[in-house]
Amino acid sequence: MPARVLIVEDERITAEDLRDILTGLGYNVVASVSSGADAVALAEETQPDLALMDIQIKGPMPGTEAARVLRERFNIPVIFLTAHADAETVSRAKSSEPLGYIVKPFQEGELRAAIEIALYKHAVDLKSLGKSELFASTLRAISDGVISVDRSESIAFLNPAAEGWTGWSAREAIGRQLREVFPLLDAASGEGVETPLWRVLGEGSLDDLGEGILLMNRGGTRRAVAGSIAPIRDHRGQVSGAVVFFGRALGESRIVPVIAGPEVDSSLGVGGFKMVAASNSIKQVLRFARRVAESEVSTILIEGESGTGKDIVAQFIHHFGRRNQGPFVPINCAAIPENLLESELFGYEKGAFTDARASKAGLLEVASGGTIFLDEIGEMPVLLQAKMLRVLEEQTFRRLGGVRDIEVDVRVLAATNSNLAEAIEQGKFRRDLYYRLNVIQVFLPPLRDRKEDVLPLADNFVRLYNGKFKRDIQGLSNAAGAMLLAYDWPGNVRELRNVIERAMVLEDSNWIQGPSLHIASPGSNPLLAVQPGESEEGNFTLSLEQIERKLLSQALTKAAGNQTRAAVILGITRDTLRYKMKKFRLGTGGLGTGD
Ligand SMILES: Nc1ncnc2c1ncn2[C@@H]1O[C@H](COP(=O)(O)OP(=O)(O)OP(=O)(O)O)[C@@H](O)[C@H]1O
Ligand SMILES: [Mg+2]
Repeated sequence: MPARVLIVEDERITAEDLRDILTGLGYNVVASVSSGADAVALAEETQPDLALMDIQIKGPMPGTEAARVLRERFNIPVIFLTAHADAETVSRAKSSEPLGYIVKPFQEGELRAAIEIALYKHAVDLKSLGKSELFASTLRAISDGVISVDRSESIAFLNPAAEGWTGWSAREAIGRQLREVFPLLDAASGEGVETPLWRVLGEGSLDDLGEGILLMNRGGTRRAVAGSIAPIRDHRGQVSGAVVFFGRALGESRIVPVIAGPEVDSSLGVGGFKMVAASNSIKQVLRFARRVAESEVSTILIEGESGTGKDIVAQFIHHFGRRNQGPFVPINCAAIPENLLESELFGYEKGAFTDARASKAGLLEVASGGTIFLDEIGEMPVLLQAKMLRVLEEQTFRRLGGVRDIEVDVRVLAATNSNLAEAIEQGKFRRDLYYRLNVIQVFLPPLRDRKEDVLPLADNFVRLYNGKFKRDIQGLSNAAGAMLLAYDWPGNVRELRNVIERAMVLEDSNWIQGPSLHIASPGSNPLLAVQPGESEEGNFTLSLEQIERKLLSQALTKAAGNQTRAAVILGITRDTLRYKMKKFRLGTGGLGTGD
């Protein structure tokens, strides 16, 4: 269908010229009018796709005003035609947000290009408007208050729950400073307290509003409130604002949850797993994660270096979500070959491809009513990312070869240990998917930044392996504890667990002594501390993982970085190799990755 164009031009000759050119280019000219008022009337009547408008039309309604009405009232994009391109006219034109500006006299080709680009841009705008509406409607439905602010602490968004809490309408609140709309008081003293917003914006950390806090609404009523402030990062990883997530202070036992201080028992047992949270930073993260889990937010991104606990936090979030009676379905996007990932996720209908003898449900269907955990989302192929975006936005999808939309009710958790910004820059990760995932991020700090967790975690693992190995180890000697604290933990909690596991196998006494730990001086890699083949015992002190890593790197060296050859040497598939390289953080740096 040719685009339908409205001409607004008061010079008759130019108007007729335009009509001829446009018709010649294949457009449908629905009307040609000479005043702003007529333009508005005809726009309503004929619903054109686009208006070409002289900015200098005669009559009481100037072109810029008519253009603004067309855009705001009827959603019709406007291209200005003008004989003047002086700064003043251009800046006047800008105020009505046109989608193009052509200076007369113009070429036919120029006109066509301007029209096509305006139509395209308009379609894209409409689409993203639809998306942000959808997202806003999700936030509208949430019973927790959500307020987002930009870097200058002024409010960019406020959901209805937050309107209820603060007594400010979104319209009035947007653009104001957070502290004006969201004033907090100390319950005990009645004094005003600062939100930790400045710290969140400055350091990109996650912070609690604190305990014993009251929110004073516009009318002066005070209510106990609890919540967190989380940074919002742009695709380059820079903090671009923050989101305050808050609600009722649920009483000690629920909000300041089961996570006690280290002096008591610094662990939290939920479901079949146990989390240690002694440091303030991890407690904050878990409180935030729990609040988010209990909310209606359906998409959450979990970020953190390898081994920081992303898996376990994903389970934690599932456990505290309303879908916790449903399944928890993890899938590692890096471990499954690209071509299988799609059919694993979406399933297929009989005959969808040669081998599809029967139809099969995808993991998304399996996870319906529960949670799907997309681990290493950065490794998802770009085409699949587009399909995934649709699932996130519409909660529907089709099986491969299917014609029917399948509806699911699923919470999507995604995890990444790499900086997605880089992948976005390289075109390997879709920006729109990133923005969709990125709204609520749970960031797990590396273990080196929360040393208070090291000893409680170590104790936890000692207890764990006591059960498994039928031992009765009492704990760590002082020297061993000091060594753990001095170490840098590049492999984070997983590495700590492996170190304890190995120490418990090697340790003869009832206390783990320093030498059994086999960790090197701070900052160095434990693998380098002991070379395999030094002695029988030397070999034995390497964990399976370390040996695996060593073999992998040897194979890669032998294959001069060629992954396909390295996989053959090791007798594993290339996908497995890639997965393991990622896991052990091999293969970037000096080694080539070509195949
Ligand atoms: N806070 C914690 N309390 C107890 N155990 C923990 C904690 N954090 C991590 N762990 C343990 O450390 C190990 C690594 O954690 P997990 O697998 O969740 O890390 P990850 O971030 O998903 O790693 P990767 O990026 O390699 O997938 C697991 O055995 C997990 O149970
Ligand atoms: Mg993991």
